Amino acid sequence: MKARGEKIVCLTAYDFPMAKILDQAGIDLILVGDSAANVVYGMATTLTIGMEEMVYHTRAVAAGVKRALIVSDMPFLSYQVSLERAVENAGRFLQAGASAVKVEGAGPVLETVRRLVEYGIPVMGHLGLTPQAVHKLGGYRLQARKPEEQERLLSDSIELEKAGCFALVLEKVPAEVAKMVTMRLQIPTIGIGAGPHCDGQVLVLQDMLGFFEESQFKFVKRYAEIGQMVRQAVMGYVADVRAGRFPDEEHSF
Ligand code: KIV
Repeated sequence: MKARGEKIVCLTAYDFPMAKILDQAGIDLILVGDSAANVVYGMATTLTIGMEEMVYHTRAVAAGVKRALIVSDMPFLSYQVSLERAVENAGRFLQAGASAVKVEGAGPVLETVRRLVEYGIPVMGHLGLTPQAVHKLGGYRLQARKPEEQERLLSDSIELEKAGCFALVLEKVPAEVAKMVTMRLQIPTIGIGAGPHCDGQVLVLQDMLGFFEESQFKFVKRYAEIGQMVRQAVMGYVADVRAGRFPDEEHSF
């Protein structure tokens, strides 16, 4: 798709009904993101979600997908401790129905990427704002602002490509920096808060569907106000049941 100049359209999903709708709507790639920690479990960071939850979500998503590529996020500590643990954990995602896994960072992660790819497990990289490193980064702010950070981002991207990654997520970096990386790589870049020049785009589903009033990120376009719709529907049901309007004759035997 990169060679043909076609944009790669990605979203996150964590369950069967949403995965089915996304697949029917023509999404190319569904990421079972560890952002499930935030938008499904209400956790403050992605550091506290584990393998068991991520495997459950992968299985549920896989049940709803016929066409899209499913990529599962390897959670914190599932690929850092040893190469053996990384292979075993990545393999569990493939057994659960994913076709690839995603890992964050470069440096020591490069060896892990090489090993997974050697064992036939496709790997997506993730650079820029890497939420599993939130404490090292000191928050969720824009990355690669200084020239030396931009050079580092480029060299890490090239190393991940050489290690065998088939695609690279670039999160929250300046658009011009993402453009430079995208032009330099053979593999596609998938941006989130990284401007329009990436080969594809990804967003967290709950953010773009407007589930939560409080999450208004600059890089997210809200395509619906689902939170409001659901609240109104439920309030209608509550009022009907309390007033004896539901069930009526039409909905009774
Ligand atoms: O976990 C996730 O949803 C992600 C995307 C934000 C890229 O990693």
